[in-house]
Amino acid sequence: MKYSLPLLLLLLFINCKPNPATPTGEVADKAMVVSARKEASQIGVEILKKGGNAFDVMVGTDLALAVAYPFAGNLGGGGFMVYRQSNGDVGALDYREKAPLAAHRDMYLDSTGNVIPGMSTVGATAVAVPGTLAGLFEVHEKFGTLPIEEIIAPVIELVEQGVEVTEKQANRLEYYREQIMEVNGDNTLFYTSCKAGDTLRYSALANTLKRIAKNGRDEFYNGETAKILAKFIQDKGGFVTEEDLASYEAQWRQPVIFTYKDLRIISMSPPSSGGVTMNQIFKMIEPYDIGKYDHNSPEAIQLLTEAFRRSYADRNFYLGDPDFVDIPLDVLLSGAYLKERMDTFSWDQATLSSEVSHGEVQIAESMETTHYSIVDGFGNAVSVTTTLNGAYGSKLYCDELGFFLNNEMDDFSSKPGVPNMFGLTGAEANSIAAEKRMLSSMTPTIVEKDGNLWLVVGTPGGSTIITAVAQTILNAYEFNQSMQDAVNAPRFHHQWLPDLIIFEPGGFSGDIKDRLKAKGYQINEDRTPVIGKVDAIRVLPDGRLEGGADPRGDDTAVGY
Ligand code: GLY
Repeated sequence: MKYSLPLLLLLLFINCKPNPATPTGEVADKAMVVSARKEASQIGVEILKKGGNAFDVMVGTDLALAVAYPFAGNLGGGGFMVYRQSNGDVGALDYREKAPLAAHRDMYLDSTGNVIPGMSTVGATAVAVPGTLAGLFEVHEKFGTLPIEEIIAPVIELVEQGVEVTEKQANRLEYYREQIMEVNGDNTLFYTSCKAGDTLRYSALANTLKRIAKNGRDEFYNGETAKILAKFIQDKGGFVTEEDLASYEAQWRQPVIFTYKDLRIISMSPPSSGGVTMNQIFKMIEPYDIGKYDHNSPEAIQLLTEAFRRSYADRNFYLGDPDFVDIPLDVLLSGAYLKERMDTFSWDQATLSSEVSHGEVQIAESMETTHYSIVDGFGNAVSVTTTLNGAYGSKLYCDELGFFLNNEMDDFSSKPGVPNMFGLTGAEANSIAAEKRMLSSMTPTIVEKDGNLWLVVGTPGGSTIITAVAQTILNAYEFNQSMQDAVNAPRFHHQWLPDLIIFEPGGFSGDIKDRLKAKGYQINEDRTPVIGKVDAIRVLPDGRLEGGADPRGDDTAVGY
């Protein structure tokens, strides 16, 4: 048989494609939940076994994280969700917190125009209107199949039976103990001291959840819980009122969708910067074929760093709440613009961030927030990142209701040009206004390959979220790593300013750093944090699922 040249080249190309990586993570035949705690993943799988779908699981797993992982799991915060139904329909939900009605542009500035330290980060003044319950009920109403009481029941059981404290959790509690006590006083009912193996029980949270299970969304936004919550925040000097709670609405958004080679990537749109920034990164690197370099080689790090630098400069300047600011997305995501942004890239020499744009910041380390990924037996996929912002949010704990309140007001730019707790310098687009949503980096993402569901992925990590999600997708796609290996692989980060590459501890050799330094890259030589805590799922060619649960935390994949 004779082949034409194009067909021969195609056959050659197909034959050169490596076999999909052998799984090294948890593998399941039908369905899987990967989250920051085994208890939360397990409750999700129980819901699936009762006939629930991925959207029902979202409600149960999210609430279970508020119990087992109060560091970031929450009732007093907010989040973003990206979904893909079994028929291929995709969408996104924004249940981000919003600024209270009393908020205004200069609310965190003193009479001389300087930022008042701590006012947007600690205690009641930092608290924005929570969106989590509105988000969960919105999802349940649109896509849920099981009765809400049935979904919440195992979570109430978990609160009542208590949660065993892990080693990592005990360390975190010890680290934040003094701050929690400073904000709440010595008599707070939240455990301020415990060791691994102890059991955490919060009976107040069980009562709150029972009322929510009985009265639904209204309980949190108009009912007894709303009254208790608003009075509590106001008594502590905060701004959130009953009126703020009553007017909160989650918003369905069009996700950011883009292609990268034969992938179709679906991610979160503004007010999260995640999807837009990741779209820019992938389109900037696409012409350079990163897969021809070794994984985490100096060339791969250099190329990604230059794309990170340029996209974060745009992120910080242009992005904000789309209901308040015009974001020039058609330009920011156009091929011509992104090609032009990379015109100054050179393999010989680092670009200086001062040449990309201006600013002065300190970096703050952080890995708050939490992400979970779900694939159900029907083929639906749900990717959720949710947060209180800081660790235990504002540290303000409502004893009567049993949960922490966010410090999400700090994700606004209190004063354009001055960095927030993640070291990110914001601009006018993200200035404070009543009822506005603050810019986020959360990047819940779903990836299709050849038109089929392939990855569900996301992570906590403040400003490092976007670069960690991008690296995980590239690890799996360009470097053919299993889901678990792609999650485990050491990560690095650059965010335009400060003009520094951060490397995870122990993951990168001195030789790699020296080669980058020789080209003018500045490297953070101080203690470096872990970057992100990715929880992901890969659909294998035979339809089974491989989980990637990040060993940097207590994260666990449970499937069946
Ligand atoms: N609070 C972290 C974020 O929204 O990105």
